[in-house]
Amino acid sequence: MMNAMLPPLSIRGRLLEIPVVQGGMGVGISRYRLAGSVAAAGGMGTLAAQGLGNVSTLPVPEGTVRLRKRDDPHGWDALEQETRAAVELAGGRGVVAVNVMVAISHYARLVQAAVAGGAQAIVSGAGVPLDLPGIVGDADVALVPIVSSPRALKLLCRHWKEFHHGRQPDAVVVEGPLAGGHLGFRREDLERPENQLEELLPRIVEEGRKWGEFPVIAAGGVWDHADATRLLSLGAGAVQLGTRFVITDECDVAPFYKELLLRTQRQQITIVDSPVGMPARVIRTALIERFENGDYPGFKCHYQCLETCVAEKVHYCIADHLIDAARGDANGFFFVGANGYRCREILPVSQLMQRLSAGEPGV
Ligand SMILES: Cc1cc2nc3c(=O)[nH]c(=O)nc-3n(C[C@H](O)[C@H](O)[C@H](O)COP(=O)(O)O)c2cc1C
Repeated sequence: MMNAMLPPLSIRGRLLEIPVVQGGMGVGISRYRLAGSVAAAGGMGTLAAQGLGNVSTLPVPEGTVRLRKRDDPHGWDALEQETRAAVELAGGRGVVAVNVMVAISHYARLVQAAVAGGAQAIVSGAGVPLDLPGIVGDADVALVPIVSSPRALKLLCRHWKEFHHGRQPDAVVVEGPLAGGHLGFRREDLERPENQLEELLPRIVEEGRKWGEFPVIAAGGVWDHADATRLLSLGAGAVQLGTRFVITDECDVAPFYKELLLRTQRQQITIVDSPVGMPARVIRTALIERFENGDYPGFKCHYQCLETCVAEKVHYCIADHLIDAARGDANGFFFVGANGYRCREILPVSQLMQRLSAGEPGV
């Protein structure tokens, strides 16, 4: 029997022929080539704003190698150029989005750089993006908050309605506890039944309906067409994946990251308490084992990338280790989703999108 293709979706009037979103992956994992290729394949591709100045492969102004603490012109120049390159690559198809975390320094400036580069959507989590409509002003750009509870969605919609002329989200992402990278739950709440994506999603959909017509994008542990079909039947308009997009030809991380994913076993995927103040899912490497044993080498803060990070109070710099991972240093921090042990092969984005839309060959 043939699988039914996933139905298309519109976000702020832009058509996703395939209702699949490639989630933003920082630092330096989802750059213009990945995001642009996903959009060109008819999905929504997302650049991760943070730290692009350190890893961009585009010709960016001199001095981009290290972001300057508290003064980050190169970070936003790089973001604007990468966004423009992604939009060009997309060739008018799909949606090119930029993920900017609320907690990051220069949040408003980064959002503006993305808009200047032609971003068609801004996706924001790691905090509630209460001020986002004011930052984008009249720009024709979809606003897509990431939420982990109906309460957060209610707070946001109420605030936007009251203080931003009734503006409502154009879509929301609900990220469950199986996702890769930082998780929007306390560590002790990760396994609570009510926080699992299948439980959370219908409650977010219900809350959303009280405020508007916007679609809900379900993320965290989504692996294949069957997962997508199940989540769509629970009310999602689209699904978002992270880890599976790392193992595509167009993802610009060093080959080491992809090879590591291909050999990662289930028991090697673990949770750490990140200096960001949230739990994070990573591959257990020698570095993680060192940290688990309380052995921290000490560090110097180069970026002040998070507004509230106090270097003297945290044990290590997560940005440094994420950049190391993107560059293929075995001493990096390799973010991964709970299903990351299922990585088997590196595919072109177009093929992955087809498989997500119509099912794996032979299945
Ligand atoms: C390597 C990696 C980096 C990520 N970085 C970010 C990020 O910078 N901002 C963010 O909002 N989500 C981030 N995420 C979460 C993804 O956007 C996505 O929602 C999540 O990975 C989905 O789960 P999956 O990996 O099981 O598909 C990251 C995930 C991974 C695997």
